Amino acid sequence: MSKRYPMPIPFGWFHVAFSDELSVGEAKPIRYFGKDMVLFRTQSGEVACLDAYCPHMGAHLGHGIHDFMGKGGEVQGESIVCPFHAWKFDTEGMVTDVPYAKNIPPKVKDKQCLKKYPTTEENQSIWVWHHPEDLPPSWDVKPIPEAQFDNEEWGDIQIHRKVINTHMQDIAENGADPAHFCYVHGTVHVPDVAEAVFDGHSRNVVLTSKMTTPQGDINGRIEFASVGPGQSVTYFGGICDTVLLGNITHIEDEVVEVTFGFIQKKVNGEVPVGGVNAAIIEDICKQLDEDTPIWENKIYRKLPILCDGDGPIARFRKWYGQFYIGWSE
Ligand code: FES
Ligand SMILES: [Fe+2]
Repeated sequence: MSKRYPMPIPFGWFHVAFSDELSVGEAKPIRYFGKDMVLFRTQSGEVACLDAYCPHMGAHLGHGIHDFMGKGGEVQGESIVCPFHAWKFDTEGMVTDVPYAKNIPPKVKDKQCLKKYPTTEENQSIWVWHHPEDLPPSWDVKPIPEAQFDNEEWGDIQIHRKVINTHMQDIAENGADPAHFCYVHGTVHVPDVAEAVFDGHSRNVVLTSKMTTPQGDINGRIEFASVGPGQSVTYFGGICDTVLLGNITHIEDEVVEVTFGFIQKKVNGEVPVGGVNAAIIEDICKQLDEDTPIWENKIYRKLPILCDGDGPIARFRKWYGQFYIGWSE
């Protein structure tokens, strides 16, 4: 299939795993941004992400003889060990040991020989900074109070993942497109855009919508907040408090991974099981499924013909454009 999107992968912080998916001493192969990498956690708990392929003879550092046990690569102390000839690399991508050689080859001695991707842990998640020109991070991942390990009032993160063939900008654009809620998701009314603020790396959009329930019409309120292209959080108020960590990470140019982490408020010390709590999560995941055939088959219209009922699409695109290198609207 020919390319449907003219824009490249944007730069920013991107979710690659939840913190508890990478234990101490664990190394995993990951592939995002069209690149093979290894993600590992050292004995001291530090997370690092390096280029996957060993500078010695090219083995993948995230795979090894223990793969059949689901173990992936090997970590010793603060280093990752290549499965092929046991060269060791620290979290900066420097060779720290070649166990069978008298000397570390001068070409790699005291030099970074594996590309390191900046990482951070926030909101019980591991984030990798991607930039096509390898510039350092220019903002921080925003801490979400409900997503902190020690927040007792909110429950555990409930995870839902999906791989979709599209560009991530189109998924984000949904929040600036109130009309599609009617025709794709079957809401009775087109939601109102009560607020749309695009400020620096952040954007905040509030949608309000009359929802018809057996108890009569209620006013639903959905708040989207994004920081950069990779991090977004949506607050669903009204019926039962739900926070959605909605993160998108490109795997390839037109393939993305959507990771939903739902956090719900405890009632009397517990998150209610089933009922409205389960229904709201099910409904949001259903919406993602409903959008998927649109995203997987559409093209990108650089100059869409908008009408007066459309949302702040142009402002959204202008804001999003800041995260590209070498491409503009
Ligand atoms: S290929 Fe990595 S140590 Fe030889
Ligand atoms: Fe949608």
